[in-house]
Amino acid sequence: MKNLKPSFDAVGIDIGTHTIKMAYLKNETLAKLGLREISPDTALTTMPAEEKDKLIANVLKQTLAENQVSVKRAVISISGDAVVVRYIILPQMSQKDLETTIKFEAEPYISFPLDQAILDFQILGDNEGEETKRMDVLLVAGKKELIDRQVNIIKNVGLRPVLIDVDSFALETLFDYNIGEDTNTGGIVLLNIGATFTNINIIENGVSRFARDIAIAGNNLTKALQRDLRLDYRKAEELKKIKGLILSEDEDEEGDKEAEQISDILKPVCHELLGEIRRSLDYYQAQSSDRSLKKIILTGGTAKIKNLEKIITQETKLPVERINPFEKVKFGVKNISAEQLSDLQPFFAVCLGLALRVRS
Ligand SMILES: Nc1ncnc2c1ncn2[C@@H]1O[C@H](COP(=O)(O)OP(=O)(O)OP(=O)(O)O)[C@@H](O)[C@H]1O
Ligand SMILES: [Mg+2]
Repeated sequence: MKNLKPSFDAVGIDIGTHTIKMAYLKNETLAKLGLREISPDTALTTMPAEEKDKLIANVLKQTLAENQVSVKRAVISISGDAVVVRYIILPQMSQKDLETTIKFEAEPYISFPLDQAILDFQILGDNEGEETKRMDVLLVAGKKELIDRQVNIIKNVGLRPVLIDVDSFALETLFDYNIGEDTNTGGIVLLNIGATFTNINIIENGVSRFARDIAIAGNNLTKALQRDLRLDYRKAEELKKIKGLILSEDEDEEGDKEAEQISDILKPVCHELLGEIRRSLDYYQAQSSDRSLKKIILTGGTAKIKNLEKIITQETKLPVERINPFEKVKFGVKNISAEQLSDLQPFFAVCLGLALRVRS
């Protein structure tokens, strides 16, 4: 969430369900950058928790070692099942008063027992709808058990977690830093499509007004290929990345029967995801008659899939843009070519957002 920036050195670590991303900024110079797939052979969804956490810790350790990261503090994040975000309206009160009453105020909005939650909030401003004085509040409830697991992974590799963010809000931090354009004239949809989750955060006038994680993303595409073509995980991942989607007007691919078959399998999954995205955008717009949307900013590993961007525009009627997480920072990483860096862009939006939360 947006706070004043704490002043110390810390590495941003985004532990996704498919890849681990690491970035370290030294005075706005990107000094370290690392990405590793957690497992190239298996989807991690069915692995027992303990085994999975061990594997993640090992991969993270390797990432830190190969990049010679000596910083000990880490900014991490949670998303998906680990966190619930709600936009609520409360009677006006001070930050301090809300700190003491947040537990009671939060209760009706959180679907799991509050003694298993870590709560945080941000007062967004006065609520405009009512005559009585009320305020909009962003409520965040993280699941203790899942946060503890993340924290233990970080501690097991010798780091100290100093800040826990939420993926959607890390995207917003990056957007504010990189583009920071006027969002007064219509909401901007930040859309991060990863392996297990698709994070949506709609910002309006510099404030987050809607955030939701949809449990459909790249893994669902891979699973569909595995199921329909009876492939192992590795082969299905490979085909998904090489072939992607074919648009009906795309004539280049005509004759490539395999590509057509793959596209036909991937499309229904994309449409299911787009249906969920549309529902979120509709819900956001239905909240008030003056809510409009300006564009979508697309990130995440699955944003690399061929033609997905065009299909999103067709379905939502909104322009889709990309964000280059490395655009505004000075570049101080050795041994990465411009081409490699450009390939890495979609993966790093959340991670750079985390690294930007502290000031060295
Ligand atoms: N070239 C590509 N084309 C299509 N999909 C790709 C490509 N490269 C990577 N992916 C997919 O991107 C996903 C990984 O992206 P990302 O690193 O953003 O996810 P994650 O952060 O690990 O997952 P999550 O946030 O959902 O837990 C995987 O599903 C992978 O198959
Ligand atoms: Mg992710």
